[in-house]
Amino acid sequence: MKIGAPREIFEGENRVAMTPDSVQALAKLGHGCVIESGAGAKAGFSDAAYAAAGAEVLPDAKAVFAAADVVVKVRGPEAAEAALLKQGQTLISFFWPAQNEALLKQVADQGATVVAMDMVPRISRAQKMDALSSMANIAGYRAVIEAGNNFGRFFTGQVTAAGKVPPAKVLIVGAGVAGLAAIGTSVSLGAIVHAFDVRPEVAEQIESMGANFVFLEFEQTQDGAATGGYAAPSSPEFREKQLAKFRELAPEMDIVITTALIPGRPAPKLWTEDMVKMMKPGSVIVDLAAERGGNCDLTVPDQKIVTENGVTIVGYTDFPSRMAAQASTLYATNIRHMLTDLTPAKDGVINHNMEDDVIRGATVAHQGAVTYPPPPPKIAAIAAAKPKEKAKELTPEEKRAAETAAFKKQTRDQVAMLVVGGGLILAAGLYAPASFMSHFIVFVLSVYVGVQVIWNVSHSLHTPLMAVTNAISSIIILGALMQIGSGNWLVVILAALSVFMAGINIFGGFMVTRRMLAMFQKS
Ligand code: NAI
Repeated sequence: MKIGAPREIFEGENRVAMTPDSVQALAKLGHGCVIESGAGAKAGFSDAAYAAAGAEVLPDAKAVFAAADVVVKVRGPEAAEAALLKQGQTLISFFWPAQNEALLKQVADQGATVVAMDMVPRISRAQKMDALSSMANIAGYRAVIEAGNNFGRFFTGQVTAAGKVPPAKVLIVGAGVAGLAAIGTSVSLGAIVHAFDVRPEVAEQIESMGANFVFLEFEQTQDGAATGGYAAPSSPEFREKQLAKFRELAPEMDIVITTALIPGRPAPKLWTEDMVKMMKPGSVIVDLAAERGGNCDLTVPDQKIVTENGVTIVGYTDFPSRMAAQASTLYATNIRHMLTDLTPAKDGVINHNMEDDVIRGATVAHQGAVTYPPPPPKIAAIAAAKPKEKAKELTPEEKRAAETAAFKKQTRDQVAMLVVGGGLILAAGLYAPASFMSHFIVFVLSVYVGVQVIWNVSHSLHTPLMAVTNAISSIIILGALMQIGSGNWLVVILAALSVFMAGINIFGGFMVTRRMLAMFQKS
């Protein structure tokens, strides 16, 4: 079949749905490709690169729509493009069917099939086609870069000859795909990052990325959790608690990136005007939810404004398009994966299997009928997990009391060990031969030193530590070598056996140590 990509006509859109790499991958599925001349120019892909990859470059969109069995696009079709869709043709693009009912009906009436990339269900198997996540990942990264561009200071703290620079404090609201990408980028730039989400199961992800989860004391901690990795609306009480916490944080934060989204609803207002007023001059807010009305009261979609108190609010809605090369590469790969599922035999023939959860979920028009909304997916990949019990914060007095109790217990244990050890040595001294005593004391001391060393080394270093001590302990090979020349055949056999086993210990120990240490080295 022929897969065709026209140039995006939406004002300011720089992405393209097909790249030279995806042309080559589609050829392996048995498909030929056509592309409108100049379609990839703004993303850095020339007509020559497409032609070299095997695509046919056509002069205009009309020619592409006429030649293609499957039209691939980034943005949903404009009216002029929708009119070009014909009976039996498939369109794969973002479509937002809930917001474009009339257009969907029109396309379905024309007999075209529409696969909406924004409707791909969030289940594990469909991750490779999840274009919303690919784009949100880019948006999260770019939001931090944009914030840095408008922020007059470093992200990381520094001590320089010219003075001490404190690290920037960043708050990320909503830790979905975009939020986690923003956390990763801010942490890697050296900022102190706090993040909040209504889904308690993301607390662990936030902390594992090096940020602090903003904990809210609220009985119904599952308040915002829904299925499929999306949130449900919060109760008014929860919202009030959340806003109170944000008011506490507002004067401290230098950068706030809001990404809170509840599917199918306007963006929840979480960063209110009074919070903006509380922020320091020079602070920056990047509102990723600007397209849905914004999480911040003062956001103006597609614009950057500076408030009276000097806070910059960025409401751009085209972050992925601002990184067109990266976004096009990821989006074209998502489309290619969708086409792989639509071409199970890899013979260039599309098999639109409506029994398949992912294909059914994403198909919003098929065989002349509107097939949106789809039935709910049978599997929810990202289940709402139970929140981990948060350890109660201790007051300084409670902390001191706990430390004293731990110290007393440790001292008691050590005294008990000394008493038992002393008793044993005394007993041995009374009954055992004199030569035994020196060996026994060495043994007891080694056990003591060994336990202290192992207990005081971090868990993650136990394996290399054990491996290297294993190798060192094989010093017994010297004893075995000295005995190997003795005339007694039994001693010779035992010594040879000891040399052999100690040899394994030495080489094995050092090999394991080497492998372990290699894991800590940056490649
Ligand atoms: P997502 O659904 O993965 O994440 C949204 C997160 O917000 C979820 O973790 C959810 O639990 C959380 N959330 C919902 N209500 C909340 C509340 N009241 N308080 C705190 N957290 C709350 O969505 P994704 O893919 O990360 O997208 C995030 C936003 O970024 C969306 O609004 C999306 O439209 C937008 N976006 C913007 C782009 C741009 O260029 N401006 C580009 C791509 C995405």
